[in-house]
Order: sequence, then C-alpha cells, then structure tokens
Amino acid sequence: MARVPTSRIDKLLSSMGYGSRKEIARIAKAGGIILDAASLLDVTQRIAVTPDLPTRMTICGEALDPLAHMVILLNKPIGMTCSHKNDGALVYDILPKRWRSRTPAISTVGRLDKQTSGLLLLTDDGDLLHQVISPKRFVKKTYRVNLARPLNGTEGDLFASGGLMLDSETKPLAPAELEVVSTTEALLSITEGRYHQVRRMFAATGNHVVGLHRERLGDLALPDGLAPREWRLLTGEEIALIFNRGD
Ligand code: URA
Repeated sequence: MARVPTSRIDKLLSSMGYGSRKEIARIAKAGGIILDAASLLDVTQRIAVTPDLPTRMTICGEALDPLAHMVILLNKPIGMTCSHKNDGALVYDILPKRWRSRTPAISTVGRLDKQTSGLLLLTDDGDLLHQVISPKRFVKKTYRVNLARPLNGTEGDLFASGGLMLDSETKPLAPAELEVVSTTEALLSITEGRYHQVRRMFAATGNHVVGLHRERLGDLALPDGLAPREWRLLTGEEIALIFNRGD
C-alpha cells in the first residue's frame, strides 16, 4: 500500500501560499486553523496529507485550497499574457492571489499568444506539463482559425505533408490536419508547439490570422459553459482525455 505523505502544518500551509511559517503560527494562535472541527494550535505538528484534507480543514473560515498536483482549465481571454514576468495583464492574475506563492509553482502548460483565446491548462505538476507539451506524445492541439483572406485550397495538403519549413527554422513541421469550415475559417490540429506556430503556418501560405482560439487538447474540449476568464479544476478522467488520440 502506498504510504500517505505527512507534513508539518506550517510547512504545508506556507507551501500553499498562506504566508510565512510565522504568519501561519499567528493564524493558528488566533483560532484560524480548524481540522476536523477542532482548532489546531500547534503548527509544528505533522498531519497526513490526504486528498480529503481540503474538505476537513478550514483556514480563516474558508476551505483549504486544493493540494499540490492540480490541473486548472482556463478559458483564456484575449489580451492576457502567459508569463510570470511580463508587464500588463497575466493569466495568473485570474487565479487566487496566494496561488502565486505556491511551491511547486503553478505554470501554464505551453503558452498561448496574448491575442489567442481559449483552452489553457495551468498546473503545478511538472511531469504532467512535460507529457502534454512533448511533441513525442502527439497531443493534438486544435485551433479555430479566422483568416484575413480566403483559403487558396492548397493549405490542407501543405500542412499534412510534414514538409513545411517555417522561416528561420531548420526542421520541417510535423504533419498537421486542416478542416475547412468556410472560405476564411478553419480548424487546425497540430502536435507541436513552436513559437507562433499557427500564425506562421498561415503566413507561409500568404494569409494572415485575424482570430485564433484553442478549442481542444487531445479529446479534452473547452466546455461551452466556461466563459472567458472562467476556470475550474480538471478531474482525473478529464486529464486522461488529453492523451486520447481520438483513434
Ligand atoms: N499558434 C500561434 O500562432 N499562437 C498561439 O497562441 C498558439 C499556437
């Protein structure tokens, strides 16, 4: 049987962004930490870090945040950047403020451009992050693309060929699938994540992307009910959908 990990309470809460160990000791002294309906005063004691802890512990009257290894599904709005450092609006600003201080840190799983919207994952699970972004896992990323000019009819074959070389690159792109929706709209599925890849693919055909929205990762679709800026945690079953190849 797998051993249940244990942690000192102050260390655990500090790693979850609730403050320094001193601040956590202060919260506890004021009766702000409740476990199983009892005030927890000694923050140096160790507790079992079981998945149900957020249902059994409150901090200052609120349920404990999700434990490490969470996967967040966000409907990224246009105008926010997937960076920890950039000036301006960051996707991390949408999440609770203390989550910025969590260890392990929460990072975006790959990046969407500032002007791209749609399905974005964020996680503190480094292994999962690498599995999703690794081109070797062939996770399909599907984008709805709106174009400035009508498609010329050659794009599907070119993208599927595995021979398209983008400007200033030395390796051709892996084959990608194009589904035409209208003369100026298409769904494009790629398995890589090169810099501005979709915009550059259409630029290589003499076109210009005017709207870009990610709809799917593998078989995980952005839910209709999730408005721009809204987010929720993914379940294990939903995470598994990312790695479905759809075959
Ligand atoms: N390709 C792009 O060009 N931009 C994105 O944000 C994602 C894929």
